[in-house]
Amino acid sequence: MSASTITPWVVGNWKMNPMQADAGQLVQNLKKLLQDQIIAESACHIGVAPVSIALLNVQAAFKDAGRQILTVAQDLSRIAGTGAYTGEVSAELLKDSQINFVLVGHSERREIFAETADIIQAKVKHALTAGLTVIYCVGESLEQRENGQAEQVVLQQICDIASVVEAEQWVNIVIAYEPIWAIGTGKTASPEDAQAMHAAIRLGVSQITPAGQTMALLYGGSVKPENAVELAACPDINGALVGGASLNAESFYKIAQAFANTK
Ligand code: 13P
Repeated sequence: MSASTITPWVVGNWKMNPMQADAGQLVQNLKKLLQDQIIAESACHIGVAPVSIALLNVQAAFKDAGRQILTVAQDLSRIAGTGAYTGEVSAELLKDSQINFVLVGHSERREIFAETADIIQAKVKHALTAGLTVIYCVGESLEQRENGQAEQVVLQQICDIASVVEAEQWVNIVIAYEPIWAIGTGKTASPEDAQAMHAAIRLGVSQITPAGQTMALLYGGSVKPENAVELAACPDINGALVGGASLNAESFYKIAQAFANTK
């Protein structure tokens, strides 16, 4: 399998949005679009990451969508198992609720919630041990990019987790490259810059594990229907992690369609 035959992933990160009524409407609108024109499961994995209190409702609401819509947790505890850890949701509790996917390392968690490499490492380790698939987010700040450090920063973020990933667990990791300066700003990395970083990530991961050759590498940062086709055309961009545009069913559907049709 070459990079160009990797089934793409399009995942909507709803972040701390929306209210219940709007979330219900969003799910219904997306189901309607899929009913009118299904996107084959073999053409694109599609997932959504709602707030934790909505995970099970959203999962149930997509049961009759006519295809699998993955329900992805936005976060998990750095502590495994069960116990006296007020406010936390562990990898095992997610798995117990059939939530099989989780985002780790999002720049908002790194920056706003001060998640260090140690915390992120623990989260990745527990998620993989519990049998979850991790969508591991990496990305540089504007300052780091302007200083020519983008690639080094991103590859370091990958090295940060390498010591806790067992050889056979790499197949359960998807990497999302999200340059921080492109998140929620309307600025997208040019397809050339995004492709260059994705190629560097693939090379770097392939030096750690053969799974690097077949790993899905998603791009995130102001992905919209207007730029999805050209991003999807890049050989090492195997999908998108979509923030703002995933809160509109039609935009999100069009992005998924762009990846399904282009790949
Ligand atoms: P936007 O698509 O809103 O830029 O967000 C990207 C992101 O952070 C997805 O995780």
